[in-house]
Amino acid sequence: MNKITAIMLIAGLTANASALAKSVSVSSPDGDIKFTVTDDTSMPSYSIEFNGKKVISDSNLGLVFKDSLYLDEHFEIKDSKTRVVNTSWDQPWGERKVVVDNHKELALTLKANRDEVNTYTLRVRVFDDGVGFRYEVPKQKGLGQKINITNELTEFNVTDFADSTAYWIPSRGWNRYEYVYNTTAFEEAQLVHTPFTFKSKSGVHISIHEAALTDYAGMSLNQRRPGTLKADLAPWSDGVLVKTKPGFKTPWRTLQISDDAVGLLNSDLILNLNEPNKLGDVSWVEPGKYVGIWWGMHVNETTWGSGDKHGATTSETKRYMDFAAKYGFSGVLVEGWNIGWDGDWFFNGDVFRFAEPYPDFDIDAIGKYGKKVGVDLIGHHETSGNVSNYRDQMSAAYDLYKKHGIKQIKTGYVADGGNIKRIDENGVVRKEWHDGQYMVNEYLHSITEAAKRGISINTHEPIKDTGLRRTYPNWLAREGARGQEFNAWGNPPNPPEHAALLPFTRLLAGPMDFTPGIFDMGFDGLDATSNRPQTTLAKQLALYVVFYSPIQMAADLPRNYEAKPDAFQFILDVVTDWEKSVALAGEVGDYVAYARQARDSKDWFVGALTDENARQLELDFDFLTEGQRYQAQIYRDGKKADWVSNPYELTIEQKTFVKGDKITLPLATSGGAAIYLKAID
Ligand code: NOJ
Ligand code: CA
Repeated sequence: MNKITAIMLIAGLTANASALAKSVSVSSPDGDIKFTVTDDTSMPSYSIEFNGKKVISDSNLGLVFKDSLYLDEHFEIKDSKTRVVNTSWDQPWGERKVVVDNHKELALTLKANRDEVNTYTLRVRVFDDGVGFRYEVPKQKGLGQKINITNELTEFNVTDFADSTAYWIPSRGWNRYEYVYNTTAFEEAQLVHTPFTFKSKSGVHISIHEAALTDYAGMSLNQRRPGTLKADLAPWSDGVLVKTKPGFKTPWRTLQISDDAVGLLNSDLILNLNEPNKLGDVSWVEPGKYVGIWWGMHVNETTWGSGDKHGATTSETKRYMDFAAKYGFSGVLVEGWNIGWDGDWFFNGDVFRFAEPYPDFDIDAIGKYGKKVGVDLIGHHETSGNVSNYRDQMSAAYDLYKKHGIKQIKTGYVADGGNIKRIDENGVVRKEWHDGQYMVNEYLHSITEAAKRGISINTHEPIKDTGLRRTYPNWLAREGARGQEFNAWGNPPNPPEHAALLPFTRLLAGPMDFTPGIFDMGFDGLDATSNRPQTTLAKQLALYVVFYSPIQMAADLPRNYEAKPDAFQFILDVVTDWEKSVALAGEVGDYVAYARQARDSKDWFVGALTDENARQLELDFDFLTEGQRYQAQIYRDGKKADWVSNPYELTIEQKTFVKGDKITLPLATSGGAAIYLKAID
């Protein structure tokens, strides 16, 4: 239900703006954030104040086109309209059911005193939790039929940069978004991916990202001068940044702004700046928990390729389906079932056959078996970055899955950054970036093709999330950061602080298929430096609540769960679709705690985790419903637990809680806690 409770149009600013034409401002509904656009300098520019203090000083706006005049310093504010929106909308699945959208919008018409290429709109929306702005370029004289964008001039001039700490991963590297996060002085963040998060000594937290990235190149940030970040778009193989036509809109450039770290987590800015659901009835999109033929390959027990150790066999899949049915998992992911994995699959993109199983994988029999035991087969397509080979077979491959009742596919685009293989209209091989415009469109194409067949997608090696799940709710989750797999072979694996950094960086963009739940940390010995999760067992459980995703894997081998049935019970109880979510506590890279209420239920779950430092974390159970009692099952680090030598010591205890109670959780080094609060009479 999209109920607009208040929309106000104010046209009165128009005359003022054209007469004085110098600066126009718009503030957030609570008044804390103020966005100002000015044409008083040689370039139109914007600035942002937060609580009366400038956090972004005058920053350039504009776009450069290859074949015509462009949008830069000749423009002045000629018209301005504001409106107030206070509404809410429902998510079919999500971290909360109802999302409140309360913002003020400013639409500025900028004009140049010349005959051609002389107008564009800058649309700004200011919420209590941040700002979004975008360029809208209408059809006009001088633009021709096609536009090649060769530069985006947008800047973010961070006032307090010298006093700020930044949390970032590099952009344009070979490993896409899969880097260990850096915590550095602001100036060291040279060319970085978004969400790019930083905090000033005074406690202001800002995260720069983008929303609704479609038919445009992904934006990285380039620190051109100390404190000055400039939009840096991933180029096409021919050097052009964006190929578009008159009448286009850019994605929203976003800044989430808060006076504490938790404020970033409780923000819905990115979702609110996306378009509503375009798919209509999406009751066929199903959140859920899954297991799979997966970790065995990562720890070298089995192989993706054919032969004696082949993982994806008919009998192994049935065994996983039995396990899933016994414990109530909805799906079984199977990787390595289709022709093409033999040899070095990293470089084998040309030989993948997406509709041809290996002979020891009987897809008919497996489809039928799944129906019999009530478990879905989850499909898998690794492209190794050869997207033309995938595109050629996509219809047949998705049709085959549909025929066998498969409702979800995990896709994969393993290839070095800048090395996606595309064959152009003339049969020439081109190499593209995962975050360039070509791939932005290619990823979305797989989503819309899958939607036609009632199939949902979980993208690995994706384009970063920019909130498109609102518009395309079958885009369930993606990877786009270092996941659990790095703990099998990462060298180094994910460091203890990794899980305390992701919520404040990558996860601000949207759900991540991290694949939590490794119970056997010692597959290479607990003293292994390169191959083991650097966490306690309790922290593996906490990940199910802390990392939001509508699909969560129980990633370990069945035997490792059956060896620890007490801890396994939490994974069986936890859900993946929520009525409400509240970040309770946290500091970037140090610790974080969340409470989430199960969708259509009175029950709550709590997850908390810490970095390499043990700590006592006090949480307030204010989120509970007044007058309701809850029976809690608490899973926490044991007294002597520590991630290095004693990761398994887990204390499980019961307690009752009512609203307003407090709890102090002793978290071990790289430890955590997970709590199931069941509503009781
Ligand atoms: C990388 C993915 O992240 C991982 O989950 C998958 O197993 C491999 N590619 C093979 O497709
Ligand atoms: Ca990956």
